[in-house]
Amino acid sequence: CTERTFVAIKPDGVHRGLIGRTIARLEDKGYSLVALKLLKPSRTLAESHYESLRSKPFFGDLVSFITSGPVCAMVWEGKDVIGQVRKLIGNTDPLTCAPGTIRGDFGIDIGRNIIHGSDSISSAEREIQLWFHSEELVDWNPSLHEWVYEK
Ligand code: CMP
Repeated sequence: CTERTFVAIKPDGVHRGLIGRTIARLEDKGYSLVALKLLKPSRTLAESHYESLRSKPFFGDLVSFITSGPVCAMVWEGKDVIGQVRKLIGNTDPLTCAPGTIRGDFGIDIGRNIIHGSDSISSAEREIQLWFHSEELVDWNPSLHEWVYEK
């Protein structure tokens, strides 16, 4: 069914010039970009985003890293997009990802793993609300979509 998911290219991915290629992979797969912005997240935003990991030993480093530079925050829409984006991204640890996945192709470090994608419907809803105002999300015009693909 049609879903929306939150995707963020982390500061390492932004600095390495991976925004365009990441967007291209999700567009090529057939998903629609419904929100996009570049921002340096506040500590409050980063801590809320990773609140379920607060007790982990790497929590402090994770928050410092995600607030260290620009993040490209996006919302993508389409059929089964939450699970499919997780597959396109690959496992959390880039060393265990299959080649062909974003982390498998571009990363080697679990703490600098380029990109984040929501892991469930409830996380997607929570993360979209946390990072975006509802008016920042667009609805695609179905008739324009048909016009583009008829050409
Ligand atoms: P992400 O998909 O953004 O969700 C949680 C993040 O925690 C994860 O990607 C990693 O960047 C980070 N993370 C998970 N496990 C570790 C770890 N063992 N050491 C450092 N960072 C980790």
